[in-house]
Amino acid sequence: LQQSRPCGRQPPAPPAGSIPGPARPGTKRLPRAIVVGVKKGGTRAVLESPIARVLHSAAGGICACFVPPGGDMSPPPGACPSSFLSITFCFTCRSLMPRTLDSQITVEKTPSYFVTKEAPRRIFNMSRDTKLIVVVRNPVTRAISDYTQTLSKKPDIPTFEGLTFRNRSLGLVDTSWNAIRIGMYAVHLESWLQYFPLSQIHFVSGEKLITDPAGEMGKVQDFLGIKRVITDKHFYFNKTKGFPCLKKSESSGLPRCLGKSKGRTHVQIDPEVIEQLRDFYRPYNIKFYETVGQDFRWE
Ligand code: A3P
Repeated sequence: LQQSRPCGRQPPAPPAGSIPGPARPGTKRLPRAIVVGVKKGGTRAVLESPIARVLHSAAGGICACFVPPGGDMSPPPGACPSSFLSITFCFTCRSLMPRTLDSQITVEKTPSYFVTKEAPRRIFNMSRDTKLIVVVRNPVTRAISDYTQTLSKKPDIPTFEGLTFRNRSLGLVDTSWNAIRIGMYAVHLESWLQYFPLSQIHFVSGEKLITDPAGEMGKVQDFLGIKRVITDKHFYFNKTKGFPCLKKSESSGLPRCLGKSKGRTHVQIDPEVIEQLRDFYRPYNIKFYETVGQDFRWE
């Protein structure tokens, strides 16, 4: 994220309003919808579908919007935490959005928003009509996936078990560890519901996204108010990858699976630890199901 488009090198912020391009067709627009989370839930799989012209955070959209709390407009190069969304976002980010035709929509993805306290207020201030998409997955599996990813980059980190507990024999889970905290969906959702009605938030089941990608994407399309263009005929199950893949990618027209970082083999975890984590998450899961009115069957 930080290397792909350093903050300091962004073009000056254009004035508010749409910016029709001189040469290319389309208009740069604020995102109609944002995939706000969750990390390792399946967010990439949602965005890889050909429903939208997409700008996700890896393209640097949020980097340019970094305005330190003091309001200085020249952020330090490389310092691009997406949680620093500010009102300048409205102007700066629009300039970085891809051009879309009237028939297309712009969707942004920044999975860290869901667990960022400030994000709901700032997105609300940017545009209260923004639709929000949250891809959720069994929090225990999500935590293991998250840890597996970190381990692949930093092989020297402590064991999963070591990081999970403040006191293992007492079963005290360390909720300050991000891999654990992210999965407490009910807690994070509270902050969003202070600004957005539930009807403006769509929850995608990370599990169903794998077993029935067309069905799950169908619901996303309904939520976005667009025609159901993605159907079963767009997917095939790739046995080698062990996941659904697109029969034809938008860019090359060739079959396309997600990259190696999506669908890794998970680290083996002591079944007893998994059981303890299931117990830990159960009340949060139940609260989450009750709030959203949907049973994700993670028990
Ligand atoms: P694992 O790598 O643990 O299997 P994100 O894109 O939010 O980081 O989520 C990554 C997860 O997306 C993967 O986690 C994988 O389980 C899930 N996923 C869902 N659909 C997928 C697909 N078609 N191909 C690969 N991974 C997919």
